Amino acid sequence: SPQTTHTPLCGAGSCSVPSLQHSQKMLRGKRVIVTGASSGIGEQMAYHLARMEAHLLLTARTEAKLQKVVERCLELGAASARYISGSMDSPSLPEQVLREAENTWGGLDMLILNHIGQSSFSYFSGDVGHVRKLMETNFVSYVALATAALPLLKESEGSIVVVSSIAGRIAGPFTAPYSATKFALDGFFSSLRQELIIDKVNVSITLCILGYINTGKPSPAHSPKEECALEIIRAGALRRRELHYPARAVGTALLVRSIAPELLDSLVRSSYRLENVRRT
Ligand SMILES: NC(=O)c1ccc[n+]([C@@H]2O[C@H](COP(=O)([O-])OP(=O)(O)OC[C@H]3O[C@@H](n4cnc5c(N)ncnc54)[C@H](OP(=O)(O)O)[C@@H]3O)[C@@H](O)[C@H]2O)c1
Ligand SMILES: *[C@@H]1O[C@H](CO)[C@@H](O)[C@H](O)[C@H]1NC(C)=O
Repeated sequence: SPQTTHTPLCGAGSCSVPSLQHSQKMLRGKRVIVTGASSGIGEQMAYHLARMEAHLLLTARTEAKLQKVVERCLELGAASARYISGSMDSPSLPEQVLREAENTWGGLDMLILNHIGQSSFSYFSGDVGHVRKLMETNFVSYVALATAALPLLKESEGSIVVVSSIAGRIAGPFTAPYSATKFALDGFFSSLRQELIIDKVNVSITLCILGYINTGKPSPAHSPKEECALEIIRAGALRRRELHYPARAVGTALLVRSIAPELLDSLVRSSYRLENVRRT
């Protein structure tokens, strides 16, 4: 219904920002792929995009969850919503997803790369096989999806949104494989952005550096996933180079790192209760 666009999409205050309303209108009727859309931040992005009346193609592994998210998106006002289930460590899935977009929509406006494979918060176990698999899921599939999407995005002057983490800029302990996959995304997509600009290809690439987001139990130290999801969509629609969210926490960490990296390292080390960290 047309009313859905006037529903408040976030907490008090920030919804009155003009560029926010502008970016919401910019997404009406747009064709958007969201990966990792069955839970967490990706699920919330799907709901925001649905309220903005976008066309949605969602992916993740768990079909039962995707079915529910698609149903809810249609209730919220999505112009259309469908899904493809499968694991992104499978090399054929990225092309299959883009073929689906081309067959159903004849094009694509925004590709939101958000999924991540399972990784534990612990000392590096020495499991090289896990690193290889996580690289495939968290990094290589992003490259494959973007590569398959690029011809469509060139035609629509569209956008690629890459969801990364502060762990992709500052390497703390206990996340070595995950951190490596996120650093790789920065290297690849920041290089690709330069090439697109040199070639005058009008496809934007937005890299999202996220701090701690509350996707599980409510916790005052973590930012809400609903607001985070909206900020990601907005940054993509406004074709921003990077999003730092929450801005102050991420900005401060990056600043301290650039001025005094050893100080930041020791602050990070002392912020953990080491006796609680697993050795596997
Ligand atoms: N939450 C945070 O604090 C935080 C902080 C910084 C950055 N981020 C970034 O934000 C993004 C979303 O994180 P989140 O916390 O919302 O994660 P999440 O709740 O764990 O969701 C991950 C999504 O990826 C899907 N997925 C898992 N394994 C997959 C596979 N092998 N192939 C395809 N899809 C797979 C999951 O669905 P299925 O299980 O059904 O496949 C789910 O939809 C990630 O890029 C993450 O690095 C999050
Ligand atoms: C790039 O594409 C966007 C979205 O279509 C458009 O607003 C902008 O004017 C374009 N820029 C150039 C330089 O063509």
